[in-house]
Amino acid sequence: MAATCKLPSRTSLNNHLFRSEIPDQLRHLINDIAKAGKYVHNAIRTTDLGLAGSSNTFGEEQLKLDVLSNNIISEQLCESRLVESIASEEEANLETLNEAAPFSVVFDPLDGSSLLDANLAIGSIFGIYPKGTPIGRTPRDQVAALYLVYGPRTVLVYSAGKGVHAFYLNEVGEFILLKEKLIIKDELKTYSPGNLRAVSDTPAYRKMMNIWLDEAVTLRYSGGMVPDIHHLIIKGGGIFTNIGGSKYPQGKLRLLFECGPFAYLVEQAGGASSNGEKSLLDVQIHDIDQRTPIIIGAKSEVERVVRTLKGS
Ligand code: AHG
Ligand code: MN
Ligand code: MN
Repeated sequence: MAATCKLPSRTSLNNHLFRSEIPDQLRHLINDIAKAGKYVHNAIRTTDLGLAGSSNTFGEEQLKLDVLSNNIISEQLCESRLVESIASEEEANLETLNEAAPFSVVFDPLDGSSLLDANLAIGSIFGIYPKGTPIGRTPRDQVAALYLVYGPRTVLVYSAGKGVHAFYLNEVGEFILLKEKLIIKDELKTYSPGNLRAVSDTPAYRKMMNIWLDEAVTLRYSGGMVPDIHHLIIKGGGIFTNIGGSKYPQGKLRLLFECGPFAYLVEQAGGASSNGEKSLLDVQIHDIDQRTPIIIGAKSEVERVVRTLKGS
């Protein structure tokens, strides 16, 4: 009788993608992005924070970590040969990598980099589209989205349209399944109110804030959208908002690189997203740098925030 392997004691990311019957090219691309994430993880842990963005003790230029992360990810995506074009929060324009390739990738290489010196969690965010410019499309056209959160542990969460699944990076550099089929229940476990300075000139946002205070809802806000939304995805409930005010009329966050991928993931987990009018998955992308208000998390709470912001 032929010898067979025992069932593995742990499920790797590649294993999971394979078992979930994610098409091969998309599986390879997600693996390639995960690999880029490992390099970013390493850069965060090994770059001298006091010197990042200036020159080091040997007089060598040190790149800021968000620029370094952008270079790492762009290089890995180019090497993958599966990416026709990329759009990055760090670049003004789309860049063509391989015209014959099937996918277009949009990403924020390092979100929350201003939290770095305080040693708070930060992240990288990715949206995967069929090849072609994202302009004129909506985030609903994404075929997959994922993020990495670099906290005490590095965790990767992906969805390729078959649920939302989380993996942690182990000591030998593999992503190992942590939790699969994450579900956001219709529960207001916590609230994460971003761009809160908007309450000074947006009375409806102040009203919403007062409702949460009066209901004694637990606040969870770190100032990094990746850990803040990751919190509600992992805990399975809650709400995250970043809405407009006079300083940022459309809110601070970008549709293409930040809100679109999270809208895909949260809706895949059974939650909802809105720009105050409709699902973020249905907002047309006019500009790669476009900002949008974001209300995201448990379905009925997203609806209540939308109603309250409309003044009803
Ligand atoms: P950046 O992209 O400049 O690193 O900003 C981080 C973002 C996002 O992660 C976070 O949710 C938001 O800024 C925080 O904004 P407020 O300070 O307005 O709450
Ligand atoms: Mn960002
Ligand atoms: Mn960034």
